[in-house]
Amino acid sequence: MTDLDRIWQLQPEGQAYRLEQTTRPRPVPGAGEVLVRVHAVSLNYRDLINLRNTAGRNVTGRIPASDGAGVVVACGPGVSNWTPGDRVCGSFFQTWESGPFEVRHHQHDLGGTIDGMLAEHVLLSATGMVRIPDYLSDAEAATLPCAAVTAWQSLFVRGQLQRDATVLALGTGGVSVFVLQLATAAGARVIITSSRDEKLVRARELGAWQTINYSATPDWEKEVWQMTGHQGVDHVMEVGGPGTLEKSLKSVSASGQIALIGVLTGFGAPSCSLFPLVAKNARFDGIYVGSRTDFEHLMAFMTTHQIHPVIDREFSFAETPAAYEYLASGDHFGKIVIRV
Ligand SMILES: NC(=O)c1ccc[n+]([C@@H]2O[C@H](COP(=O)([O-])OP(=O)(O)OC[C@H]3O[C@@H](n4cnc5c(N)ncnc54)[C@H](OP(=O)(O)O)[C@@H]3O)[C@@H](O)[C@H]2O)c1
Repeated sequence: MTDLDRIWQLQPEGQAYRLEQTTRPRPVPGAGEVLVRVHAVSLNYRDLINLRNTAGRNVTGRIPASDGAGVVVACGPGVSNWTPGDRVCGSFFQTWESGPFEVRHHQHDLGGTIDGMLAEHVLLSATGMVRIPDYLSDAEAATLPCAAVTAWQSLFVRGQLQRDATVLALGTGGVSVFVLQLATAAGARVIITSSRDEKLVRARELGAWQTINYSATPDWEKEVWQMTGHQGVDHVMEVGGPGTLEKSLKSVSASGQIALIGVLTGFGAPSCSLFPLVAKNARFDGIYVGSRTDFEHLMAFMTTHQIHPVIDREFSFAETPAAYEYLASGDHFGKIVIRV
């Protein structure tokens, strides 16, 4: 008899999608594939984008979520680098192993173009997985594939972060809290913003150098300028998009970097001039997560510094819609996890 797995999938509803819980036959690993029993999944803002259809992407019938952690239960023909019992995370782009990004990887992003992790068992590519260090729990490891790898790529791979550099993180969502933790561990000084003072207190506990409430201080870029002795920050981790870009351009230092990461204020065109980038000899780096090798380097760095991801709240598998609603509320600090 075929085993049935519980899964969540996206189904069209009006102009957007809804979450549907159903079952499907447990997949069987083919050549080069590994069957993984998923223990924990984490959500990203991207999962809301897909659910709300704000990026106009067809995800009908798709199992959502790029991020999960679990244990290898079976390996397909030709797989020699994994053994049942190994603890693993999937890598966001199943085909991006190392080196620069290539367009072909767009066809292999978990929870987007291909099925994601919100299921009891998933098939992953044997070359699209990363080993979980012993010191991390499954829930902690599940938070890493998208948000933490994005922070890593922005700061260290593209940004070449130096000790004592200054970094600006916007808000206290998943990516920004990883920026705070990773950059602080590397000896950089992080300025982080939030709409809520209580979250800024937590950010200080995690090592933030300076904090700004962007609701109470709408001209936060002026604060950044003051805090940095009228130099600006070396690295801006731009998760806001068109609504924050002008202020980020004013916040970046001469020869600095703006990592273009997110769209929290939408997908529209920014209305500001890009001339500050020219005047400051600064640069934009477009960021789209990272490779499996980037993920492995991140794991090594986190292990060296014994960094534990910040999990705000955990939900059960059945509570998945509530987990999405909590993400949409913006009440969280760091990451939201679903136990599978
Ligand atoms: N390019 C990539 O590879 C990549 C990878 C991951 C994520 N992203 C993008 O990066 C963004 C963040 O993703 P995430 O998963 O970290 O999101 P998230 O966890 O949902 O972050 C939500 C938080 O962002 C803050 N925020 C919202 N609007 C803001 C604004 N106008 N200015 C400053 N902060 C604001 C709020 O923090 P407070 O409550 O503290 O105010 C909110 O709680 C999203 O747009 C996502 O699509 C891109």
